[in-house]
Amino acid sequence: MKKNLLKNWNPTETRLKNIERKVRILDRDVQFHDGVPIPSWIELNVIDACNRSCSFCPKADPKIAPNTYQKMPIQLIDKLFEDLKKINFEGAFCLSGYGEPTLHNDLHPIIYKLSILGAVELITNGDTLSPKKIKDFYDSNLSKLIVSMYDGEHQIEKFKKMEEESGVPKSFLVLRNTWYKDEDNFGLLLTNRAGTNNAGKQPKINLNKKCFYPAYTSVIEWNGDIFLCCHDWQRRVSMGNVMQASFFDIWNGATYRKYRKDLLSSQRKNKPCSDCNADGTVHGFKHDKEWKKVYKI
Ligand SMILES: C[S@@+](CC[C@H](N)C(=O)[O-])C[C@H]1O[C@@H](n2cnc3c(N)ncnc32)[C@H](O)[C@@H]1O
Ligand code: SF4
Ligand code: SF4
Repeated sequence: MKKNLLKNWNPTETRLKNIERKVRILDRDVQFHDGVPIPSWIELNVIDACNRSCSFCPKADPKIAPNTYQKMPIQLIDKLFEDLKKINFEGAFCLSGYGEPTLHNDLHPIIYKLSILGAVELITNGDTLSPKKIKDFYDSNLSKLIVSMYDGEHQIEKFKKMEEESGVPKSFLVLRNTWYKDEDNFGLLLTNRAGTNNAGKQPKINLNKKCFYPAYTSVIEWNGDIFLCCHDWQRRVSMGNVMQASFFDIWNGATYRKYRKDLLSSQRKNKPCSDCNADGTVHGFKHDKEWKKVYKI
């Protein structure tokens, strides 16, 4: 790859572009159900496994995040779909979570069903991709396929070629330059994943830092457990399980409310938040404003 082609691959710009893209989805006007703000972004961990072990990711440590290969079943998506339809959810979905989503061998019905409700993005390390797979994802109604390029600049040409051969529109594949070393924080806005990884140069934990995550998003684990955010790799405090209660009742339930109120009042009191150094305020400012009215804070 020639140097002049690489000048457009600045990691800070890639991160800013990613934030800009997500602002349009996550920070649109807040939707309500029964007077309660509902999320704009739901992330799903469709499979508890990864084929890589990146040093900055908790997946590198089998004691923290072993590969169990447990997969999200379509029945769970059907249940979630009905729950979200009842509250007129119009947000978006992200298949990413705590592993490598493309290792799930039956993703297309999942993507298709969710796409009836909102845009669906998928984040992958790209290892399983081929032109046919890219086209199949596009045909399943996936909105964006985001590829983390961890190995080096040679991957740009590889994935551009695949994109061309697949025949999908140019805007479908989003390539991210994340091949940098630890001195450049791997090209990521690194966090300690709630006390589970300290690679690179990371900010200190600030227990008085606000966090908007539980105001606008949820992460749903393969088995239906709901966790606070994508940083919570400890996965010890579940807000509830989608197979046992409705999504809205969990979202508006006592555990979620307690965490949300504390975090919107700048108190990272309980685990996993007390171990977390994530900024927490990059997205969600509109939800923050609405929840403050609900909680009168
Ligand atoms: C956990 S991965 C799952 C998707 C897929 N396996 C991948 O790597 O693209 C989701 C995102 O988290 C990022 N990530 C992993 N560890 C991180 C950390 N410690 N801080 C910030 N981002 C991290 C990855 O680069 C990726 O963009
Ligand atoms: S960052 Fe993605 S590819 Fe790397 S170990 Fe974590 S889940 Fe796997
Ligand atoms: S403080 Fe950290 S762990 Fe808690 S919700 Fe915010 S980002 Fe997630």
